Amino acid sequence: MKPKTPRALAVDLLLQVEEGARAQLLLDRVLDRLPWPERDKAYATHLVYGALRRLYLLDFLLEPHLSRPEGLPRAIRWVLRLGALEWLLGKADHARVHPWVEEAKARHPRLAGLVNAVLRRLAPREAPPWVRLSLPEWLLKAWEGFFGDLSFAEALNEPAPLFVTAYREVEGLPPGPLPESFVWPGPKADFPALGLQPQNPASLFAAKLLEAQPGERVLDLCGGAGLKAFHLAARGAEVISYDLNPKRQAAGRKTAERLGLKVAYRTQDLRAPLGEKAPKVLLDAPCTGTGTLRTHPELRYRLSPEDPKKMARLQRALLETAASAVEEGGLLVYAVCALTEEEGEGVVRAFLQDHPEFALEPFACPFPVLREGLGVYVAPLGGLDGFYYARLRRAKL
Ligand SMILES: C[S@@+](CC[C@H](N)C(=O)[O-])C[C@H]1O[C@@H](n2cnc3c(N)ncnc32)[C@H](O)[C@@H]1O
Repeated sequence: MKPKTPRALAVDLLLQVEEGARAQLLLDRVLDRLPWPERDKAYATHLVYGALRRLYLLDFLLEPHLSRPEGLPRAIRWVLRLGALEWLLGKADHARVHPWVEEAKARHPRLAGLVNAVLRRLAPREAPPWVRLSLPEWLLKAWEGFFGDLSFAEALNEPAPLFVTAYREVEGLPPGPLPESFVWPGPKADFPALGLQPQNPASLFAAKLLEAQPGERVLDLCGGAGLKAFHLAARGAEVISYDLNPKRQAAGRKTAERLGLKVAYRTQDLRAPLGEKAPKVLLDAPCTGTGTLRTHPELRYRLSPEDPKKMARLQRALLETAASAVEEGGLLVYAVCALTEEEGEGVVRAFLQDHPEFALEPFACPFPVLREGLGVYVAPLGGLDGFYYARLRRAKL
């Protein structure tokens, strides 16, 4: 694929996201190989994320001007949406309409006139909240019922800083909300070479909750590439990271080596019991990712109302494995980057009912909080991912 302009690239990538690709992975892979100026890469990124974060609203704005949008070629629908996005963001007509008409001409010349007419006719329209926020209606209803407030939701559509966790002394980087967390101001770089690992502070905090000590054995369950394991290893703990996905683990192994950290990786389906125990266990369970809709904006269109319940069943099974691996008196941290009742409080409530030998251990959360009591829900504000954490202590017999 050799797109000539950021606009053409954005349309091509959005077509792939529509077919199931993940926007962030796709952008990382494609932009890495393009010898374009950073400005052009940033513009393509802005278009892709902008369209995905506002999709319902863009279609709503286009609706009065199209008799049968679903009959249009998919590329033209993205051209229209991207033109509407730039209108929404206040770009002047002369800079906005012509380039998108040219883009339409290059793909479907006979539809260039339609694109021109529609993009010139756009007008403000009062949208219901779920359309304005471009979030599934069922999710907003669930959030309103559970958190009692929706004011955090707008932040999921705002660009966020790139946070990095530092594994070496760094100078000159603006600090993030945790001591080892910083904001990376420039284009992406060879981060491990600089002793840095891109990571949201809310993700780093899940690992910090274990308060790992030098020499202590720690199990990192559902560790993926091991981002949380890196923090635990940097504290001097002996870390064993388990996951189902050997590819992620291979990537993690490479990064750990480059960061100078020691993590042991083991591949296993954690629905089956583990053959070992440790005083500290972290379970960063797979989830709906509803706290990460800013970085993964396409996820919201793939979720169904049954997903939180389905994920909660898997999480409950994984928590069972994790709990049986905790030594007496030991600590278990359960974390998900999800903002649903089912995957957070729901899982932990059911777990505590079945396991009187575990009790919640309170902690101070350094982030804005949406809800707390039975664990803590972090608000996805200031570029933070939304997270749920529960810290559980196993009684000594
Ligand atoms: C939230 S991600 C983990 C992210 C990772 N802890 C980090 O900080 O980068 C969830 C992980 O669970 C893994 N997973 C899903 N189902 C699993 C299972 N049944 N057994 C083991 N790992 C599983 C996925 O491969 C994925 O890497």
